[in-house]
Amino acid sequence: MEKYPLPRVDTDAELRKLLIKYCRLTKGEIWRDPISEHRIACIDSTDPKAVKELMNGTESVLAIHDPPYNFIAFDELKEEQFISWSEKWIKNSFNSLALNSSIYIWLGADYKNHFQPFASFIQMMKNSGFESRNYITLRNQRGYGTTQNWMAIRQELLYYTKGAPVFNVETVYTDIPKILKGYYKEVGGEITENTERSRSEFIRPGNVWVDVQQVFYRMEENVNGCFAQKPLKAIERIVNASSNENDIIIDFFAHSGTTLISCEKLKRKCFTADIDPIFCEISIRRLERFRNTGKTGWQNSNPFYEEIIQDNEIKEYLAVKHKINYWKENDGSD
Ligand SMILES: C[S@@+](CC[C@H](N)C(=O)[O-])C[C@H]1O[C@@H](n2cnc3c(N)ncnc32)[C@H](O)[C@@H]1O
Repeated sequence: MEKYPLPRVDTDAELRKLLIKYCRLTKGEIWRDPISEHRIACIDSTDPKAVKELMNGTESVLAIHDPPYNFIAFDELKEEQFISWSEKWIKNSFNSLALNSSIYIWLGADYKNHFQPFASFIQMMKNSGFESRNYITLRNQRGYGTTQNWMAIRQELLYYTKGAPVFNVETVYTDIPKILKGYYKEVGGEITENTERSRSEFIRPGNVWVDVQQVFYRMEENVNGCFAQKPLKAIERIVNASSNENDIIIDFFAHSGTTLISCEKLKRKCFTADIDPIFCEISIRRLERFRNTGKTGWQNSNPFYEEIIQDNEIKEYLAVKHKINYWKENDGSD
Protein backbone atom coordinates (compact mmCIF):
# COMPACT_ATOMS: atom_id res chain seq x y z
CA MET A 1 0.00 0.00 0.00
CA GLU A 2 2.95 2.32 0.58
CA LYS A 3 4.13 2.12 -3.01
CA TYR A 4 1.47 3.90 -5.03
CA PRO A 5 2.42 7.38 -6.13
CA LEU A 6 0.22 9.99 -7.75
CA PRO A 7 1.55 12.51 -10.28
CA ARG A 8 1.09 16.23 -9.62
CA VAL A 9 -2.60 16.79 -9.91
CA ASP A 10 -2.63 20.50 -10.76
CA THR A 11 -1.14 20.17 -14.24
CA ASP A 12 -2.89 17.00 -15.41
CA ALA A 13 -6.36 17.96 -16.71
CA GLU A 14 -7.45 14.37 -17.35
CA LEU A 15 -6.43 13.16 -13.90
CA ARG A 16 -8.20 16.15 -12.36
CA LYS A 17 -11.45 15.16 -14.10
CA LEU A 18 -11.11 11.64 -12.75
CA LEU A 19 -10.43 12.73 -9.16
CA ILE A 20 -12.82 15.64 -8.78
CA LYS A 21 -15.80 13.36 -8.13
CA TYR A 22 -14.12 12.22 -4.91
CA CYS A 23 -13.83 15.78 -3.55
CA ARG A 24 -16.23 17.08 -0.91
CA LEU A 25 -16.01 20.79 -1.59
CA THR A 26 -17.01 22.81 -4.62
CA LYS A 27 -16.05 26.44 -5.18
CA GLY A 28 -17.35 28.73 -2.43
CA GLU A 29 -17.90 25.98 0.15
CA ILE A 30 -16.37 25.80 3.63
CA TRP A 31 -15.69 22.56 5.53
CA ARG A 32 -16.04 23.03 9.27
CA ASP A 33 -14.19 20.52 11.40
CA PRO A 34 -16.45 19.37 14.26
CA ILE A 35 -13.52 18.18 16.41
CA SER A 36 -10.89 20.94 16.55
CA GLU A 37 -12.91 23.69 14.83
CA HIS A 38 -10.56 24.06 11.86
CA ARG A 39 -12.06 25.44 8.65
CA ILE A 40 -11.10 24.65 5.07
CA ALA A 41 -12.54 26.90 2.38
CA CYS A 42 -12.55 26.29 -1.34
CA ILE A 43 -12.21 29.94 -2.26
CA ASP A 44 -10.10 32.48 -4.08
CA SER A 45 -8.11 34.14 -1.30
CA THR A 46 -8.02 37.43 -3.17
CA ASP A 47 -11.82 37.68 -2.81
CA PRO A 48 -12.59 39.86 0.26
CA LYS A 49 -16.16 38.59 0.57
CA ALA A 50 -15.13 34.94 0.55
CA VAL A 51 -12.36 35.54 3.12
CA LYS A 52 -14.78 37.45 5.34
CA GLU A 53 -17.13 34.49 5.24
CA LEU A 54 -14.28 32.16 6.20
CA MET A 55 -13.37 34.38 9.18
CA ASN A 56 -17.04 34.93 10.11
CA GLY A 57 -16.33 37.71 12.62
CA THR A 58 -13.30 36.00 14.23
CA GLU A 59 -9.71 37.25 14.26
CA SER A 60 -6.47 35.43 13.69
CA VAL A 61 -3.13 36.10 15.40
CA LEU A 62 -0.93 34.48 12.79
CA ALA A 63 -0.92 34.10 9.01
CA ILE A 64 1.40 31.64 7.27
CA HIS A 65 1.14 32.01 3.50
CA ASP A 66 2.91 30.15 0.73
CA PRO A 67 1.62 31.66 -2.52
CA PRO A 68 2.35 30.09 -5.90
CA TYR A 69 5.28 32.37 -6.80
CA ASN A 70 6.56 29.95 -9.42
CA PHE A 71 3.94 31.47 -11.72
CA ILE A 72 6.54 34.12 -12.36
CA ALA A 73 9.44 31.79 -13.00
CA PHE A 74 7.35 29.92 -15.56
CA ASP A 75 6.16 33.16 -17.16
CA GLU A 76 2.52 32.33 -16.54
CA LEU A 77 1.98 35.69 -14.90
CA LYS A 78 3.84 38.96 -15.37
CA GLU A 79 5.52 40.31 -12.28
CA GLU A 80 3.20 43.34 -12.05
CA GLN A 81 0.20 41.03 -12.20
CA PHE A 82 1.64 38.86 -9.43
CA ILE A 83 2.19 41.94 -7.26
CA SER A 84 -1.30 43.38 -7.76
CA TRP A 85 -2.73 39.88 -7.18
CA SER A 86 -0.66 39.64 -3.96
CA GLU A 87 -1.85 43.05 -2.77
CA LYS A 88 -5.35 41.62 -2.60
CA TRP A 89 -4.61 38.60 -0.38
CA ILE A 90 -2.27 40.70 1.75
CA LYS A 91 -5.12 43.18 2.31
CA ASN A 92 -7.49 40.31 3.15
CA SER A 93 -4.89 39.01 5.62
CA PHE A 94 -4.51 42.42 7.23
CA ASN A 95 -8.28 42.60 7.73
CA SER A 96 -8.40 39.06 9.18
CA LEU A 97 -5.54 39.59 11.65
CA ALA A 98 -5.87 40.93 15.20
CA LEU A 99 -4.30 44.21 16.36
CA ASN A 100 -1.31 42.23 17.66
CA SER A 101 -0.43 39.59 15.09
CA SER A 102 2.22 38.14 12.77
CA ILE A 103 2.36 37.24 9.13
CA TYR A 104 4.93 34.96 7.47
CA ILE A 105 5.22 34.70 3.70
CA TRP A 106 7.27 32.16 1.74
CA LEU A 107 8.57 33.70 -1.44
CA GLY A 108 11.10 32.87 -4.11
CA ALA A 109 13.44 34.96 -6.23
CA ASP A 110 14.31 34.36 -9.84
CA TYR A 111 18.07 34.96 -9.79
CA LYS A 112 18.24 35.21 -13.56
CA ASN A 113 15.59 37.89 -13.68
CA HIS A 114 16.29 40.61 -11.13
CA PHE A 115 15.15 38.51 -8.20
CA GLN A 116 11.53 38.77 -9.18
CA PRO A 117 9.01 38.67 -7.61
CA PHE A 118 10.86 38.91 -4.27
CA ALA A 119 12.29 42.41 -4.82
CA SER A 120 8.99 43.97 -5.92
CA PHE A 121 7.05 42.09 -3.27
CA ILE A 122 9.03 43.60 -0.39
CA GLN A 123 8.54 47.05 -1.96
CA MET A 124 4.79 46.44 -2.17
CA MET A 125 4.73 45.43 1.53
CA LYS A 126 5.85 48.95 2.51
CA ASN A 127 2.25 50.10 1.98
CA SER A 128 0.58 47.04 3.48
CA GLY A 129 0.23 48.31 7.06
CA PHE A 130 2.56 45.54 8.33
CA GLU A 131 5.97 46.23 9.90
CA SER A 132 8.93 44.30 8.53
CA ARG A 133 10.59 42.22 11.27
CA ASN A 134 12.85 39.61 9.76
CA TYR A 135 13.84 37.66 6.75
CA ILE A 136 14.51 33.97 7.31
CA THR A 137 16.42 31.67 4.99
CA LEU A 138 15.69 27.96 5.03
CA ARG A 139 18.52 25.90 3.65
CA ASN A 140 17.49 23.06 1.33
CA GLN A 141 19.47 19.83 1.30
CA ARG A 142 19.28 19.54 -2.45
CA GLY A 143 19.98 22.42 -4.79
CA TYR A 144 19.70 23.17 -8.45
CA GLY A 145 21.94 25.00 -10.86
CA THR A 146 25.08 24.50 -12.88
CA THR A 147 28.78 24.70 -12.10
CA GLN A 148 28.73 28.19 -13.64
CA ASN A 149 26.97 29.71 -10.65
CA TRP A 150 26.43 29.17 -6.90
CA MET A 151 23.93 26.44 -6.38
CA ALA A 152 20.44 27.60 -5.38
CA ILE A 153 19.69 25.96 -2.04
CA ARG A 154 17.60 28.51 -0.20
CA GLN A 155 13.97 29.31 0.47
CA GLU A 156 13.02 32.74 1.73
CA LEU A 157 10.54 33.41 4.50
CA LEU A 158 9.45 36.98 5.25
CA TYR A 159 8.25 37.90 8.73
CA TYR A 160 6.08 40.98 9.31
CA THR A 161 3.98 42.05 12.27
CA LYS A 162 1.07 44.24 13.26
CA GLY A 163 1.19 45.76 16.78
CA ALA A 164 3.11 43.76 19.39
CA PRO A 165 2.40 40.06 18.86
CA VAL A 166 3.52 37.09 20.92
CA PHE A 167 6.99 35.69 20.26
CA ASN A 168 7.65 32.52 22.26
CA VAL A 169 11.36 32.33 21.65
CA GLU A 170 11.88 29.70 24.35
CA THR A 171 9.81 27.17 22.34
CA VAL A 172 11.91 27.28 19.21
CA TYR A 173 15.29 25.75 19.94
CA THR A 174 16.74 23.56 17.21
CA ASP A 175 18.00 20.07 17.98
CA ILE A 176 21.55 21.11 17.14
CA PRO A 177 23.73 20.94 20.28
CA LYS A 178 25.88 23.91 21.18
CA ILE A 179 29.38 22.69 20.48
CA LEU A 180 31.44 25.86 20.47
CA LYS A 181 32.43 27.44 23.74
CA GLY A 182 33.69 30.97 23.83
CA TYR A 183 32.14 34.42 23.60
CA TYR A 184 33.24 35.53 27.07
CA LYS A 185 31.30 38.15 28.98
CA GLU A 186 31.44 39.55 32.50
CA VAL A 187 28.34 38.74 34.50
CA GLY A 188 28.23 39.92 38.17
CA GLY A 189 31.98 40.34 38.23
CA GLU A 190 32.59 36.81 36.89
CA ILE A 191 33.87 36.01 33.42
CA THR A 192 31.48 33.51 31.86
CA GLU A 193 31.40 31.81 28.51
CA ASN A 194 28.34 31.38 26.30
CA THR A 195 27.38 27.81 27.30
CA GLU A 196 27.31 28.80 30.99
CA ARG A 197 24.96 31.70 30.28
CA SER A 198 22.60 29.97 27.88
CA ARG A 199 19.18 28.59 28.76
CA SER A 200 19.51 25.53 26.58
CA GLU A 201 22.17 23.12 25.44
CA PHE A 202 20.75 23.53 21.93
CA ILE A 203 21.16 26.32 19.40
CA ARG A 204 18.35 28.77 18.68
CA PRO A 205 17.31 28.82 15.04
CA GLY A 206 18.08 32.50 14.36
CA ASN A 207 17.15 33.59 10.87
CA VAL A 208 19.07 30.92 8.97
CA TRP A 209 17.46 27.50 9.35
CA VAL A 210 19.83 24.68 8.47
CA ASP A 211 18.13 21.91 10.40
CA VAL A 212 14.96 21.32 8.38
CA GLN A 213 14.79 18.44 5.93
CA GLN A 214 13.00 19.12 2.62
CA VAL A 215 10.02 16.86 2.04
CA PHE A 216 10.70 13.92 -0.25
CA TYR A 217 9.05 10.59 -0.98
CA ARG A 218 10.78 8.61 1.77
CA MET A 219 9.43 10.84 4.51
CA GLU A 220 6.18 9.92 6.25
CA GLU A 221 4.85 13.45 5.80
CA ASN A 222 5.15 13.27 2.01
CA VAL A 223 1.84 13.84 0.19
CA ASN A 224 1.94 12.48 -3.35
CA GLY A 225 0.01 14.56 -5.87
CA CYS A 226 1.30 17.76 -4.26
CA PHE A 227 4.30 19.57 -5.63
CA ALA A 228 5.06 22.37 -3.21
CA GLN A 229 4.81 20.91 0.26
CA LYS A 230 6.56 22.77 3.07
CA PRO A 231 8.18 20.74 5.89
CA LEU A 232 6.10 20.38 9.05
CA LYS A 233 9.17 21.17 11.14
CA ALA A 234 9.44 24.67 9.63
CA ILE A 235 5.73 25.42 9.98
CA GLU A 236 5.61 24.09 13.55
CA ARG A 237 8.50 26.38 14.46
CA ILE A 238 6.51 29.39 13.21
CA VAL A 239 3.32 28.24 14.95
CA ASN A 240 5.14 27.70 18.25
CA ALA A 241 6.94 31.03 18.12
CA SER A 242 4.10 33.26 16.98
CA SER A 243 0.93 31.87 18.55
CA ASN A 244 -0.46 30.21 21.65
CA GLU A 245 -2.79 27.25 22.13
CA ASN A 246 -6.38 27.81 20.87
CA ASP A 247 -5.34 30.75 18.68
CA ILE A 248 -6.70 30.99 15.15
CA ILE A 249 -4.09 30.69 12.41
CA ILE A 250 -4.79 31.46 8.76
CA ASP A 251 -3.17 30.01 5.64
CA PHE A 252 -4.68 31.14 2.34
CA PHE A 253 -2.81 28.59 0.20
CA ALA A 254 -3.47 25.22 1.85
CA HIS A 255 -2.26 22.78 -0.87
CA SER A 256 -1.24 19.68 1.15
CA GLY A 257 -2.53 21.18 4.42
CA THR A 258 0.80 21.52 6.22
CA THR A 259 -0.33 24.45 8.37
CA LEU A 260 -3.53 22.56 9.18
CA ILE A 261 -1.61 19.50 10.45
CA SER A 262 0.77 21.71 12.45
CA CYS A 263 -2.23 23.42 14.07
CA GLU A 264 -3.85 20.08 14.89
CA LYS A 265 -0.61 18.85 16.48
CA LEU A 266 -0.04 22.06 18.43
CA LYS A 267 -3.68 22.66 19.46
CA ARG A 268 -4.37 25.75 17.38
CA LYS A 269 -7.34 26.33 15.07
CA CYS A 270 -6.47 26.58 11.41
CA PHE A 271 -8.65 28.52 8.95
CA THR A 272 -7.21 27.63 5.59
CA ALA A 273 -8.20 28.00 1.95
CA ASP A 274 -7.31 26.73 -1.48
CA ILE A 275 -8.84 27.71 -4.80
CA ASP A 276 -8.58 24.10 -5.96
CA PRO A 277 -11.19 21.59 -4.65
CA ILE A 278 -8.67 18.75 -5.04
CA PHE A 279 -6.16 20.38 -2.68
CA CYS A 280 -8.98 21.19 -0.24
CA GLU A 281 -9.91 17.50 -0.26
CA ILE A 282 -6.28 16.45 0.18
CA SER A 283 -6.01 18.77 3.21
CA ILE A 284 -9.17 17.34 4.79
CA ARG A 285 -7.98 13.79 4.16
CA ARG A 286 -4.55 14.53 5.59
CA LEU A 287 -6.18 15.74 8.81
CA GLU A 288 -8.45 12.69 8.97
CA ARG A 289 -5.51 10.36 8.32
CA PHE A 290 -3.49 12.05 11.05
CA ARG A 291 -6.35 11.54 13.50
CA ASN A 292 -6.95 7.93 12.49
CA THR A 293 -3.37 6.73 12.23
CA GLY A 294 -1.07 9.36 13.75
CA LYS A 295 0.65 9.59 10.36
CA THR A 296 1.37 13.03 8.93
CA GLY A 297 1.25 12.03 5.26
CA TRP A 298 1.22 9.09 2.86
CA GLN A 299 4.94 8.66 2.22
CA ASN A 300 4.90 6.59 -0.99
CA SER A 301 1.15 6.16 -1.30
CA ASN A 302 -1.39 8.94 -1.81
CA PRO A 303 -4.61 10.51 -0.49
CA PHE A 304 -6.84 8.90 -3.17
CA TYR A 305 -5.39 5.37 -2.95
CA GLU A 306 -8.60 3.78 -1.61
CA GLU A 307 -10.68 5.13 -4.50
CA ILE A 308 -8.08 4.49 -7.16
CA ILE A 309 -7.80 0.76 -6.44
CA GLN A 310 -11.58 0.50 -6.96
CA ASP A 311 -11.72 2.69 -10.07
CA ASN A 312 -10.67 0.99 -13.31
CA GLU A 313 -10.84 4.20 -15.32
CA ILE A 314 -8.23 5.93 -13.14
CA LYS A 315 -6.09 2.80 -12.86
CA GLU A 316 -6.01 2.49 -16.64
CA TYR A 317 -5.23 6.17 -17.07
CA LEU A 318 -2.34 6.05 -14.57
CA ALA A 319 -0.93 2.89 -16.12
CA VAL A 320 -1.02 4.18 -19.70
CA LYS A 321 -0.14 7.84 -19.18
CA HIS A 322 2.17 7.62 -16.16
CA LYS A 323 3.30 3.98 -16.08
CA ILE A 324 2.01 3.64 -12.51
CA ASN A 325 0.66 0.17 -11.95
CA TYR A 326 -2.22 -0.14 -9.48
CA TRP A 327 -3.30 -3.52 -10.86
CA LYS A 328 -0.55 -5.46 -9.15
CA GLU A 329 -2.24 -5.70 -5.77
CA ASN A 330 -5.43 -7.09 -7.35
CA ASP A 331 -3.35 -9.76 -9.07
CA GLY A 332 -1.92 -10.80 -5.75
CA SER A 333 1.59 -10.13 -7.08
CA ASP A 334 3.96 -7.68 -5.53
C1 LIG B 1 2.83 26.72 -3.04
S1 LIG B 1 1.32 25.92 -2.75
C2 LIG B 1 1.19 25.97 -0.98
C3 LIG B 1 1.96 24.82 -0.31
C4 LIG B 1 1.64 24.60 1.16
N1 LIG B 1 2.34 25.54 1.99
C5 LIG B 1 1.97 23.19 1.62
O1 LIG B 1 2.83 23.00 2.49
O2 LIG B 1 1.40 22.23 1.10
C6 LIG B 1 0.16 27.10 -3.32
C7 LIG B 1 -1.32 26.69 -3.32
O3 LIG B 1 -2.09 27.89 -3.55
C8 LIG B 1 -3.27 27.56 -4.25
N2 LIG B 1 -3.79 28.81 -4.85
C9 LIG B 1 -3.37 29.44 -5.96
N3 LIG B 1 -4.07 30.57 -6.16
C10 LIG B 1 -4.95 30.69 -5.13
C11 LIG B 1 -5.94 31.64 -4.76
N4 LIG B 1 -6.17 32.72 -5.49
N5 LIG B 1 -6.67 31.43 -3.64
C12 LIG B 1 -6.46 30.30 -2.89
N6 LIG B 1 -5.53 29.37 -3.19
C13 LIG B 1 -4.78 29.56 -4.30
C14 LIG B 1 -2.83 26.49 -5.22
O4 LIG B 1 -3.94 25.69 -5.63
C15 LIG B 1 -1.76 25.72 -4.41
O5 LIG B 1 -2.35 24.58 -3.83
